[in-house]
Amino acid sequence: MCGIFAYTGNKGKEAGKILLNGLLSLEYRGYDSAGVYMPESGSVKTTGAVAELRRKLPKDFKGTSGIAHLRWATHGEPSEKNAHPHADCGGEIWVVHNGIIENFKELKEKLSKAGHTFASDSDTEVLAHLVEEHLKNQSAGGGSSSGGKNFEKAALAALNEVRGTYGIALQYKREPDRIIAARMGSPIVLGLGDGEHFIASDPAPILPHTRKVMFLEDGEVAVITPGKHRIFRLDSTTVKRKATEIDWSAEEAQKGGYEHFMLKEIMEGPEVVRNTLRGRLIPAKGFAKLGGLESVTKQLQRIDRIIIVACGTASYAGQVGEYMLEGHARIPVEVEIGSEFRYRKAVVNERTAVIGISQSGETLDTLEALREGKRHGALTLGIVNTVGSTIARETDAGVYNHAGPEISVASTKAFLSQMTALALLTVFLGRQRGMTEKEGREIALALKELPEKIEKILEQRGAIEQLAKKYSKNRDFLYIARTYNFPVALEGALKLKEISYIHAEGCAAGEMKHGPIAMIDGNFPTVAIATKDSVYEKMISNIHEIKARKGPVIAIATEGDREIAKLADDVIHVPKTMEMLSPILNVVPLQLFAYYLAKEKGLNVDRPRNLAKSVTVE
Ligand code: AGP
Ligand code: GLU
Repeated sequence: MCGIFAYTGNKGKEAGKILLNGLLSLEYRGYDSAGVYMPESGSVKTTGAVAELRRKLPKDFKGTSGIAHLRWATHGEPSEKNAHPHADCGGEIWVVHNGIIENFKELKEKLSKAGHTFASDSDTEVLAHLVEEHLKNQSAGGGSSSGGKNFEKAALAALNEVRGTYGIALQYKREPDRIIAARMGSPIVLGLGDGEHFIASDPAPILPHTRKVMFLEDGEVAVITPGKHRIFRLDSTTVKRKATEIDWSAEEAQKGGYEHFMLKEIMEGPEVVRNTLRGRLIPAKGFAKLGGLESVTKQLQRIDRIIIVACGTASYAGQVGEYMLEGHARIPVEVEIGSEFRYRKAVVNERTAVIGISQSGETLDTLEALREGKRHGALTLGIVNTVGSTIARETDAGVYNHAGPEISVASTKAFLSQMTALALLTVFLGRQRGMTEKEGREIALALKELPEKIEKILEQRGAIEQLAKKYSKNRDFLYIARTYNFPVALEGALKLKEISYIHAEGCAAGEMKHGPIAMIDGNFPTVAIATKDSVYEKMISNIHEIKARKGPVIAIATEGDREIAKLADDVIHVPKTMEMLSPILNVVPLQLFAYYLAKEKGLNVDRPRNLAKSVTVE
């Protein structure tokens, strides 16, 4: 999610300059629009970046406090009206927000009935009106406490009604020195200066001013004025916290203290799966709720075939989706590489759904493949991470990943999110096609357990780094797996290729004997995904075949599997989950392996040679 920066000071400094320079250091997080509010001058918002905002700022835009935002849209197209900050009806209460207000629709209905009028389509705007409503009720109720306390109490009351994730900064025109921050799921850090205080999504914009910071925890609220700060919980109990001095550079701060964006994004995996699932699972009923598909539910009931079109990593997610959808929703699926589908005379009609999977939502081969499907009357859907992107706008309906901006060229967290979204789609379609409530519930509960299981794998990153060092001199790798995990073998090989430039090939394990095994010798390691599932014994046989030819084997195995260690040269254990969801866990060690190998080789991990983050050309 995007970037927040807020400032209040009594040193006569120009807040506008501080705020816009701070936003510049947050642009790396990806954005589609920007905005700023200062009580003495009002608000300016724009699509695009800080440069556009700076151009639009009137010369006399001044003040000693304010709140600013870089938006990465989740609800409401990227536009000036949907950009933050958002205000209440009276234009007195302003808010910037990172995250997703899950219950914004019901809050918006309630507030509209109470007479509030909304100026945008974003979920965030309800926060400003909710605080306004509570402030009004307090005054009506004769709220006796002094000015600032009423605003704080109204903010607290509003936040206790909100479900979802937020990192926010709130400002009240009548109390320009005071800014309220709150954190639930989206990071918020306080900067403690001398006669000035800061609020930001990460330390990068604060570091030029002070290195003394405090990180809020989920469920905490902070109030800053030029000379003071207070932290308390949503139940109003006070929080005592020592400040920390951070010695990161601004660039390290952008990476959350990690050396590369790729590692930061791999480490975000658990949170990304939580955000993809957020508000979309009804375990008790074994249902998945996909709001973005509500408009085409009837058409989806009529389709008799799905074609998934995508490129690169997204196509491998699509291949995992094929196993999920055919295995559990019993609907025929085929996966086509975007650049191939668009040129072949595929048989498509109005009973076909063509689903485009794309992190950027701008990949031309995928976009043109979807257009080809549309030309033949297919229902087109998108599984897209970037709100308002071309694919999101041109498809009939879709599912947003909510994975947050992915900066590193190598896609990692988006891949986890794409497979999670496909599992949700499997339940959504499956329950229309005879999947029992029991099976739906089993999948839903297994999905909810994934984030913690990913965290357990990430705890092994030190051992995986050692493994990468051990194999850093090898020039060729083979990745093998079967069924659900065959696409993960392809993805593991792609990760290694694209960031370490080492030749790696993904191969269906059953195909070894039809050719690839000729390559195997002591210098040709194989990564074998052999977790406990329906094809485990077959994978063990493949590993035997490779060992018989002196090939080194790195096995991905299920926790507790002691047998495989007697066979493989190295083993990385992953927690057990249902077979359909095992790709979401099994890819994580492969992402880390590729990352540490490329790092060991001293390569530009985040910006590999010859590659672009979004391939908008043929
Ligand atoms: C993945 O690591 C690569 N960066 C690349 O294969 C990417 O997945 C592919 O270009 C598709 O991009 P998209 O998801 O934005 O459409
Ligand atoms: N959900 C909010 C919106 O779409 C915030 C997005 C963000 O984190 O930038 O406006």
